[in-house]
Amino acid sequence: MRAAVVTTFDSAPRYQQFPTPVPAGDDEMLVDVLAAGLHQRVRSQADGSHYTSTDELPLVPGIDGVGRGPDGSLRYFVLPDTSVGSMAEQTVINLRQSVELPYTIDPVVVAAAMNPAMSSWVALRQRVQFQAGQDVLILGATGNAGQMAVQIAKLFGANKIIAAGRDAERLAALSALGATAMVRLDGDDLADRLGKAAGDVDLVLDYLWGEPTAAAMTAVLTNRADRGQPLTWIEIGSVAGRIAPISSAALRAARIQIVGSGQGSVSGHEYLAELPALADAIAAGRFAIDARAIPLAEVEQAWAAAADARQRIVLTPQL
Ligand SMILES: NC(=O)c1ccc[n+]([C@@H]2O[C@H](COP(=O)([O-])OP(=O)(O)OC[C@H]3O[C@@H](n4cnc5c(N)ncnc54)[C@H](OP(=O)(O)O)[C@@H]3O)[C@@H](O)[C@H]2O)c1
Repeated sequence: MRAAVVTTFDSAPRYQQFPTPVPAGDDEMLVDVLAAGLHQRVRSQADGSHYTSTDELPLVPGIDGVGRGPDGSLRYFVLPDTSVGSMAEQTVINLRQSVELPYTIDPVVVAAAMNPAMSSWVALRQRVQFQAGQDVLILGATGNAGQMAVQIAKLFGANKIIAAGRDAERLAALSALGATAMVRLDGDDLADRLGKAAGDVDLVLDYLWGEPTAAAMTAVLTNRADRGQPLTWIEIGSVAGRIAPISSAALRAARIQIVGSGQGSVSGHEYLAELPALADAIAAGRFAIDARAIPLAEVEQAWAAAADARQRIVLTPQL
C-alpha cells in the first residue's frame, strides 16, 4: 500500500510504499482510510517530540481517522501508540476503539473535528465534573482546539465563556461560536484586562502553557473577588511553551488546583466512553468546523501548509 512514511525525525513524511498491516484477532479490522487529521499531536508524533514518542522508525503517522471496513461500514477510529498510523491507504483498527458513523456524514469533517473537540469535551467530562452555569476561560481560543472548546463549553451550558488569543480577527469571530467576551493576548495592560474579564472564572481550559500561562494565572488569581472560590486550571496544550514559571505566591493565595488532560491522565477507557456522544454531536452539525482536504499523495506539501494553517488539514488517502 501507499502511505506517508517518516524515516527521519527532521523531515516531513514522504508518500511511498509501506507493508500493508495485518489484523491480529477478532477485534481487529483492516479498513480503507478515507480521512486522517493532521493534528498538532500528529506533527509531534512525526518529529519525535511527543511525550509518548518511542523513537521507533520508520513510522506511519496518524492517530485517528475515518475508515471504511470490508462490510462497507464507516467508522471513526483512534489508534493505540503504533508505528503504523492512519496516514496510509489502509490501517488496522481495533473495533473497540472505534465508533460507527452514519453513511451520510462527511469523513473529512469528522477527521478534522474529533481530536480538537475531544480535548475540551474529555477535559470537561472526565477531568472535572463540569456544571452548567459555570464560567470558563479558554487560553489559546483561536486555534482549532480552542475554537471547538468555545463551542463545547456553550453546548455544555457554560455561563461566561471568555476567549483569550493572539489573533484579533479570529478572536472576534468567536462571539458567533458562543464566546461571551474576548481578550486579546497582547499589550502592557493585559494582566488588568484579563483579570477584570476572567478573575472569577470556575475553570480554565489552557492550550498555551509557557510564559503566557504563568502571566494569565497571576492575573486571574490576583483578581478574584473571593479567593476561596475553587478554580480548576486544566492544562491541555503547550503551543506557547513546555515549561511555565508559575508563581508560588499565586498558588498559595487562592484556591486553585491544576490538572492535566491528555493521554495518560485520561484513560483509553474514558476517551472511548466519550466517543459516541461526541461523534453524534458532530454528525448532528452542532459545531462549525473548518477543514481542508488534501490528497495523501501530497503529504509533504500538506506538512508545510500545516505549519501555519488556519484550517485543520485532513489527508485523504483514497482520492
Ligand atoms: N490534551 C489533548 O487532549 C489535546 C488534544 C488536541 C490538542 N491538544 C493540544 O492543544 C494545543 C492546540 O492544538 P490545536 O489543534 O488547536 O492547534 P492549532 O489549531 O495549530 O492552534 C494552535 C494555536 O495556538 C496559537 N498559538 C501558538 N503559539 C502561541 C503563543 N505563543 N501564544 C498564544 N497563542 C499561540 C495560535 O493561534 P494564533 O496564531 O491565533 O494566536 C494557533 O492558532 C496543542 O498543544 C495540541 O497538542 C491537546
